[in-house]
Amino acid sequence: MLIAPSMLACDFRNLGEEARRAVAAGADWLHLDVMDGSFVDNISFGPDICAAVRQSVGGDVFLDAHLMIDAPDHYYPRFVKVGVNLISIHVEREGKVDLQATLRGIRESGTQSGIVVNPATPVERVVPYLSEVDLVLVMSVVPGFGGQSFLADTLAKVQFLKTARERAGLAYIIQMDGGIGPNQAPLCAAAGADCLVAGSSTFRAPDMAAAIRSMKKPAVQNDCTAG
Ligand code: DX5
Ligand code: ZN
Repeated sequence: MLIAPSMLACDFRNLGEEARRAVAAGADWLHLDVMDGSFVDNISFGPDICAAVRQSVGGDVFLDAHLMIDAPDHYYPRFVKVGVNLISIHVEREGKVDLQATLRGIRESGTQSGIVVNPATPVERVVPYLSEVDLVLVMSVVPGFGGQSFLADTLAKVQFLKTARERAGLAYIIQMDGGIGPNQAPLCAAAGADCLVAGSSTFRAPDMAAAIRSMKKPAVQNDCTAG
């Protein structure tokens, strides 16, 4: 299981130090939540902050940018430019944004691409994009804020995507995001998730490394508890 701490939950006064703290604690990826105050009811940060994170951790750390913005087609090149490794865009912008062209553009620029589905959106909506993406992100909270409660009915979407991946012979990563900590990780793993985004449960844990370890191997953790 890949663990991607969300920088949204870090102490922004020490952005660079916080990014390095997550990497030292065992983070596989760093998740960057970009919000424009229109697609979601919050404003977070943009490409310059992503560039600062890149500079703080060096070139080898995988940066995963989650664009909760109205115009991912217009802005994605700026995230490519600052060197993020993956850019995911929301399927809810279908009809307003040419998602196929945007996903293709992201990939052609040498960056991995992802499609995101909100809790209220049927998972079938992402099916036309599955062959264009490296990752599908299933939101387990309504996007906009960290620290919300995990919506367990979104687990069925993960199962659907796992089956669809097998049937189509594809290889996209299935990621979940929102309200995930050591208690939810085993459920996500059992449903078939490959990567968990975790903000509050990592950056605000008393021991970040321990929190990441317990989410990385949720099945093993259960065995230990049972034994
Ligand atoms: C929500 C963001 C999430 C959020 C996760 O809009 O996409 O990445 O930061 O934070 P927690 O883990 O605190 O729910
Ligand atoms: Zn996110």
